[in-house]
Amino acid sequence: METYQDQFNVWAESVEKAWDQLDEKVKQSIDERIVQSFEGKLLGFKELLEQRTSIETLQIEAQTLYHTWEEIYQSMDSNRGNQMNSTPLQPVPIGGHRLPPLPYRYDALEPYIAAEIMRLHHQEHHQSYVDGLNKAEKMMEQARKTGDFNLIKHWEREAAFNGAGHYLHTIFWNNMSPKGGGEPVGELAHQIRKDFGSFQQFKKHFSEAAKNVEAVGWAILVWSPRSHRLEILQAEKHQNLSQWDVIPLLVLDVWEHAYYLQYKNERKEYIKNWWNVVNWPDVNDRFKKAKELRWRPY
Ligand SMILES: [Fe+2]
Repeated sequence: METYQDQFNVWAESVEKAWDQLDEKVKQSIDERIVQSFEGKLLGFKELLEQRTSIETLQIEAQTLYHTWEEIYQSMDSNRGNQMNSTPLQPVPIGGHRLPPLPYRYDALEPYIAAEIMRLHHQEHHQSYVDGLNKAEKMMEQARKTGDFNLIKHWEREAAFNGAGHYLHTIFWNNMSPKGGGEPVGELAHQIRKDFGSFQQFKKHFSEAAKNVEAVGWAILVWSPRSHRLEILQAEKHQNLSQWDVIPLLVLDVWEHAYYLQYKNERKEYIKNWWNVVNWPDVNDRFKKAKELRWRPY
């Protein structure tokens, strides 16, 4: 079992590695003060890790390092031209997802959310989604290698449940802050007024959606690149066999209405033939656009 200290170590290493692998040209385009501050904080953090400083101090320092790393990304985004698109982020290896550190202390959201809940929620629950997703990805990789897809339905379910759990919690921790509350300003505030009438109406709708999720789940504010509007959705459990925070590139409709008139119950035959009509340039186009979104990898 990894200790929290180990996880900070791994995290610091991954940040350093991602930084080392950034293209020199991209690095030069980032504001020098941000780079200096980032490099200083990374060095300081590594020293603290070597000294085996208390978890509380590590959390505070991780938070400031995290924000500077965020600034690097923002700065890259604002400089983004063709050069950025050719700079690959370090992908998460198959079965290599990690628990991201909480960007604040466990007691930081008190009195609204108790430290005990935060610790349990992050260390136990989120960790178990990370572990479950890694396991499912490894098992699916194995199925591809051996050609034995007998348990594919099970592992796809596991990947969806745990993957959605991991990705949503990763968003959730950052969606909250000890300095949070109030109302949004700027572009988001404008869009909320446009799509929901007012902030109060949005808040009411979102709260009602959350209250009325059947059994367990989430309320989620989403941006639809398709309709160019904000929308509020519910997720039961985490998923319903999907993962939030991913972008569909290639989809195959296997409702009976898509094939029954022609193939009757031969779904397999329909799938086999369907590959003859896949429009790869379209998939490629969606892929290129999707890759422009650059979340930090976890
Ligand atoms: Fe949760």
